[in-house]
Amino acid sequence: MHATAQAQPNIALVKYWGKRNAALNLPAAGSLSITLDALHTRTRVRFDDALADDDITLNGERDEAQTRKIGVFLDLFRARAGVAVRAHVESGNDFPTGAGLASSASGFAALAIAVDRALELHLDARELSMLARRGSGSAARSIFGGFVEMAAGTRDDGEDAFAIPLLGAGAWPLKVVVAITTRKRKAISSSAGMDHTRDTSPFYRDWIAGVPGDLDAARSAVSTRDFEKLAQVGEASCLAMHAVMMSARPGLIYWNTATVACIQCIRSLQADGTGVFFTIDAGPQVKAVCLPDDAARVADALRTVIGVEDVLVSGLGEGARIVEDAHACA
Ligand code: DP6
Repeated sequence: MHATAQAQPNIALVKYWGKRNAALNLPAAGSLSITLDALHTRTRVRFDDALADDDITLNGERDEAQTRKIGVFLDLFRARAGVAVRAHVESGNDFPTGAGLASSASGFAALAIAVDRALELHLDARELSMLARRGSGSAARSIFGGFVEMAAGTRDDGEDAFAIPLLGAGAWPLKVVVAITTRKRKAISSSAGMDHTRDTSPFYRDWIAGVPGDLDAARSAVSTRDFEKLAQVGEASCLAMHAVMMSARPGLIYWNTATVACIQCIRSLQADGTGVFFTIDAGPQVKAVCLPDDAARVADALRTVIGVEDVLVSGLGEGARIVEDAHACA
């Protein structure tokens, strides 16, 4: 009753920011993402009859709120398996956690895969995506590699709100240069930020109404490998999401000065003909999506931006999967 899984974060090019049902964590609109290969979460799960409570360690530390959240997530799988047994969970990331680098996406995707194997449930990828969604909406996408689309669905029970793979990682091997502008945890979680935006922004309905059109454009750009078109819709979706966040009352500002400086740097690179566009999530890090031949130039340029602490270069990667138990947690 044990297993170890690995998953990677994904970066949305058409953003998810809003829920239609909080209890089932159903998104108000679809989204489209790319799964990375250079950042990893490793999660080991061991069910143990001798345990009275779940024992959960994240990056070597125990945290009460996280333990409660993960306990509720484990209950979904225990209910499916018809068991009550508690688990040891050890999970580690080789990148900053809770800082806008999608650690909840890789975290819940890895956990879903590991628990499924440990309890011998043998759920299919669609069911695993729906279960991962219950932990974190973006985690539904990290079940798959490459280019992935998440459906909002329309059903009240959420059985049509899952991700599907659009294109494998190798079929269009774009690069992502991540400019890390702080390693601090964000002050407002995505869930809290989404609720606050829905409750207070005068533009929330317009934001949600615009997503299907962006999804059509992005899907078509991916299927024809049209980088210019993907760049236009990717930047537009990112900026529209940050605009609706900023229009909440009080406004949510996830950026810092280095975030803005990175955007300006990327705009100059574009003016010089470099194949690059930016996207930014609920944090101040900037992800520059590039054509493979331009990644080194983009990384060099972002390293010179004042306030950038580190620059990582990633390719596109596989979905969440079981790995040998011998590989310890990161
Ligand atoms: C800005 O998936 O972290 O990264 O479902 O509440 O856990 P919850 O939210 P989460 O939100 C991700 C928001 C985003 C955009 C995106 O990844 O699509």
